[in-house]
Amino acid sequence: MTDHTDNNPFLHDVLTGLAQPLPEISSKYLYDELGSMLFEAICVTPEYYVTRADLEILDNHLPEISRCIGTHAHVIEFGSGAGIKTSRLLDSLEHPTAYSPIEISAAVLEASAEHLRHQFPQLRIQPVQADYTHPISHSNLDICQDCQTRVVYFPGSTIGNFTLDQAQHFLQRIQKIISKFLPEVNGGLLIGIDLLKPLDVLIPAYADTAGVTAAFNRNLLARINRELGSDFDLDQWAHEARFNAEQQRVEMHLVSSCLQTVTLAGQQFEFSQGTSIHTENSHKYTLQGFSAMAAKAGLKLQQHWTDSNGWFATCYFVPE
Ligand code: AVJ
Repeated sequence: MTDHTDNNPFLHDVLTGLAQPLPEISSKYLYDELGSMLFEAICVTPEYYVTRADLEILDNHLPEISRCIGTHAHVIEFGSGAGIKTSRLLDSLEHPTAYSPIEISAAVLEASAEHLRHQFPQLRIQPVQADYTHPISHSNLDICQDCQTRVVYFPGSTIGNFTLDQAQHFLQRIQKIISKFLPEVNGGLLIGIDLLKPLDVLIPAYADTAGVTAAFNRNLLARINRELGSDFDLDQWAHEARFNAEQQRVEMHLVSSCLQTVTLAGQQFEFSQGTSIHTENSHKYTLQGFSAMAAKAGLKLQQHWTDSNGWFATCYFVPE
């Protein structure tokens, strides 16, 4: 049996998500072209401390981070984004040999690779177009014969978008990638994690007063209307950031402001007033909790650095 969702994973995922008892849509779909621009705008709102903290740590500790990684590194990055952090990291490393950005958007991938090619003409750059929430083919990453360390770079606390279960599996996959050529080639994981902190800091970071995060969240419905032909009325969905204490995560929701019906691919979905579509998880960790999860994946914490507020941590893990 085939149906119209077979060759359209986006449609398939949205139909499946909306049919759940608690409707949800994967946060990876927030990042179309406009969504990516809105995310960049979130990063400069006064409330969203995450990016500033991540950059502050790089600014203050790059020499130590770079010493941890060592010379002749092959850097593998999950998600290539705007590339500011990456170019700072690569710039501080001693003789980096190769760089493999893994990114779902071909346009974003090519733009950042092009930029880095100019800045680092000696570096072997091999973009990999793939959705890293699924396992990726390892052979795409085996481009470096003469490197001394394989290091996966995953900044920004993007791992927080995974559920704890997904994050556990993801760490296992990373452990395999960085251990592949042990003992000849060392392995490392340089990862940013957002730390638990008081709610009066946490919630505004995901509900800024200028409404940038609200626009980012609602853009998901605009994207679904545009790409999948649905009829979401954007004015009838309110942005909400909630703290889920049990799961220790901030959740983004779109809350229906009335009783309404939405049609998508010939199917009707009814939403009563106050029901929500859950669009993102952003897990907050303690260093101990995250290290325990990493330990189960065969990774041990070698060193870590935090910002001056103690709100964010950049961690270097190595295979046990
Ligand atoms: C890019 C996943 C790190 O979860 O903090 C920002 C995305 N969502 N504001 C985060 C986001 C709402 C962000 N990450």
